[in-house]
Order: sequence, then C-alpha cells, then structure tokens
Amino acid sequence: MELKKHLQPHAVLIPLPLQGHINPFTHLAMKLASKGFTITFVGTESTHQQIATAQSLKDDDNPFSHAQKSGLDIRYAKINDGFPLSFDRRANASQFMEGLTHVFQAHVDDFIENLVLSKPNPPISCLIADSFHVWASMIAKKYNLVNVSFWTEPATVLTVFYHTDLLKSNGHFGCHDKYEDTIRYIPGVQAIKPQDLPSYCQDADESARYVFKCIEDAKKADFVIGNTVQELESSTISVLQKQQPFYAIGPVFPTSFSKRTMLTSLLTASDYTDWLNSKQDGTVLYISFGSLANLSKQDILEIAQGILISKVSFIWVLRHNILVSGERNVLPIGFEEETADRGLVVPWCSQLGVLSHPAVGGFLTHCGWNSILESIWCKVPMVCFPVLADQLTNRKLVVDDWRIGVNLCTGRLIRRDVVAENIGRIMSKSDESRKNIDKTNMAFQNALSDEGSSEKNLNQFTEDMKNKISQKN
Ligand code: UDX
Repeated sequence: MELKKHLQPHAVLIPLPLQGHINPFTHLAMKLASKGFTITFVGTESTHQQIATAQSLKDDDNPFSHAQKSGLDIRYAKINDGFPLSFDRRANASQFMEGLTHVFQAHVDDFIENLVLSKPNPPISCLIADSFHVWASMIAKKYNLVNVSFWTEPATVLTVFYHTDLLKSNGHFGCHDKYEDTIRYIPGVQAIKPQDLPSYCQDADESARYVFKCIEDAKKADFVIGNTVQELESSTISVLQKQQPFYAIGPVFPTSFSKRTMLTSLLTASDYTDWLNSKQDGTVLYISFGSLANLSKQDILEIAQGILISKVSFIWVLRHNILVSGERNVLPIGFEEETADRGLVVPWCSQLGVLSHPAVGGFLTHCGWNSILESIWCKVPMVCFPVLADQLTNRKLVVDDWRIGVNLCTGRLIRRDVVAENIGRIMSKSDESRKNIDKTNMAFQNALSDEGSSEKNLNQFTEDMKNKISQKN
C-alpha cells in the first residue's frame, strides 16, 4: 500500500499569475486530480487576494473548496510573488517581470523545500510549471522532480518560438520591412506572413527577452502538455514531437463541474443572463479584449462607431484599464444612451457564461487563446482584432487556416464602415465561419470523448509520467 502511494503522482502546479494562465491551470488541476493525481496548486498571495475579493471567498475557502469537498485531492497554497500586495503589477509590468524571473523563483524554491521537508503523502514527484516561468528546470533538478511544462497557447506558436534561429538567419526576426515575404521554412508551420508571427518575434524588446529565456528553459522539460487539440494542429504537433514529448490535451475546460464549483476570476463578474434571455437566439455580439491587452482611444472610438452603424445588439467588456493611461471615459459621447435598448457595456463578465448563452451569435475578440478555445466550444464564430503576443498568430489560425472567423479590418488601421461590414458578416446566419465552427466544435467534442485524442494523450502522459517517476525513485 505504501509503495502504491509512492507511485501515485503528486504534482506541484505553478501558473503564471495572470488570468489567461490561471484559468487553464485551474482546469488542469481538476483534470489531473480526477485521473488520480494529488495536486498542490500554488497561487500567489496577490492573485489569491484578487480572487477572494472578486468571489467573496470566506477566510478558509479557496478556489478549489468545492472540488476538495467532492473528494479530489487538490491542496492549495499561496506564496509571495516578490512584491507587496499594494504594488501595481500591471502599471509596473517590467519590474514585475524582473521579479518573476528572480525573486519569485526564490519563493518557489523556499516553498518546495519546505514542502519536501514536511514529507507529504504521497511525496511530491513532479513540477508542472507554466512554460512562461524561467526557472522550472532548475527547481525540478534541485528537488529531483519530473519537469513538465504546461504550454497554454497553440502548438504553432511554440513551434515558431523553437525556430527563432531560422527566423534570424532568414532576416525575419525583429524586422518590420519584409512584410511581403511568406515564411515557408519553419518545420510543421504552414506558410505564414511575418506580420502573423508572435509579436515577440517582431519586436525584440524586454518582454521578448523574457519570453525567449522561458522558451529555452521549456526545451529542457521532460514533457510538454499543450492546451490544444491534436486534430487542429496535427502536422505542427507531429514535428514538435520529434523534438520533445508533447501531448495535446485540450481544450482544458471544466466539463463536469458547474461554474460554482471553481472560482478563478480575478475580477468581479455580474450575471447578464436575464438581459441575454430577452434577446433572440444568435443576435448578440459579445466583445472582449481579454485581461491584458491595451487598445488606443482611437481604436475604441472607431469600433464603437462601427457598432453604431451595424445596429447589432451587444455585450461589450470594457475593462477599466483598457487604455494605458487608465482613462475611463473612452466611448463616444452619447454612445451608451443611443444603444441602451440593444447594448450593455460592462467591466467584466463570466465569459463562458455569456458565450454559452444561445442569444450570442458572434465574438469580437483580441484572439487570446483561451477566448478562441471557449468560442469554439460554444460554436460562436469570431471577428478578430489581435493586439499582441500569440494573438497575432492565433488570428491567422482562426481566419486563414480554420476559417472560423473574419478580420475586423485589414492590418492595424480600423475603419468604422469596415468594422460594421465585418460584424454584419459574422452575425449573418449564412457566413461560412458559422458552418466551419460547427465542425471544429465537433473535433473538440470528439477529442474529449473517451476514445478521443485529448483523452488518449492525457492517459498516455499519465502513464509516461508514472514511468518517469519510477525511474527517478
Ligand atoms: C493572454 C494571451 O492573449 C493569451 O493568448 C495567452 O494564451 C494568455 O495570456 P488574455 O489576454 O487574458 O490572455 O486572453 P485569453 O487567453 O482569452 O484569456 C482570458 C480569460 O479571461 C478567458 O478564459 C476568459 O474566459 C476570461 N474572461 C475574459 C472572463 O472571464 N471575463 C471577461 O470579461 C473576459
């Protein structure tokens, strides 16, 4: 019995402390725990405080309280990220990133050392860190843990990152003057234009340097698990697998728990079900630019004018920090009054709740990877306005490769008449994106079924992981 306990994987999960990473990590914890893993989920004090406030958690509650009561072995810890709670991580992003590289690492190290000393049952055997942490291989080696990297973006983006040497030797890295070229030399990646590369390959700035340090570290992982679906990126994944064991296990969603059982939103979300219930099926456009992206005031004004022209019903999530300046009055004067009978402007919502409502027929999105997966899951075609990072490449996948969405505009220049036209296209019942997304959704459903690729890949990962653990003991 004791021997069995030793073989039962106990994984320490450490997400990047950002909404778009905490969400898939939380669902991953649930998935692995339901496969028999013991999980120690490590949040930061700062994200815990935000979640606790947003979700009105009681003192002894945590985001997994319901799951724990249902019998899943998920232990929850919170550690300091290197900054006081009052520190504005968003406004001081580069300082925060520095902290994540150096100071957070020391806190993780300290936490794991104490965890090992406390002799948990079963003992910890594996570290599953976000691929955007720079220190994972060092920590895994120090404590003799299996090193698993969780990649929360498409496999295509990871493959591009793994081949920056090729981009550099062909003069396509950090360049803005070769936009007419087509890149056909990245193994496993279909023809891609330089402007569709992740922004970190286009602007070699401080964030890019951080990202590429992380990528170098992710290459050292024993296994990479990806929040994607094999059938969606099969040739890319095949090539990736020649380099490193990669398992497509997505979409990593809460399939068997209601939204009340797990609470991960960092911001307070109101319920818009009554409003949506008053609208006809497929008539509402949902608009959101995720948790991080900043837009310019001019872009927002032009989008707002496009919405006015289109006459579409909408729910628009306009975060208070959508402008870098933090200015709150971003909409044209009179916009909310003029659209009061058909539109809602809100600071945050439960996105899966909104997308899964039958009234919603289109999603104007910044192309965050979670948003895309959620949109496919809810069969809602997209109007795409990528802003930064992987979103540029994600747009290409959605619009050019999978044809489940349209561009908001061509290039970065937003024109209100084009905005209105493309919103009209996506909301029309006959748009080809709508038909295609049904097929993509079917691929997701199949992947998650008992015999589906994601389920099989997850089982294979679990097997391979157990073997690796036994080799280490
Ligand atoms: C960023 C990148 O854009 C993304 O591609 C990367 O994989 C993670 O970091 P973010 O801007 O937060 O993510 O976008 P996205 O990936 O779409 O994640 C946002 C999450 O917040 C989604 O799970 C979405 O459901 C949730 N959300 C968003 C809400 O719950 N309410 C909202 O009002 C808006």
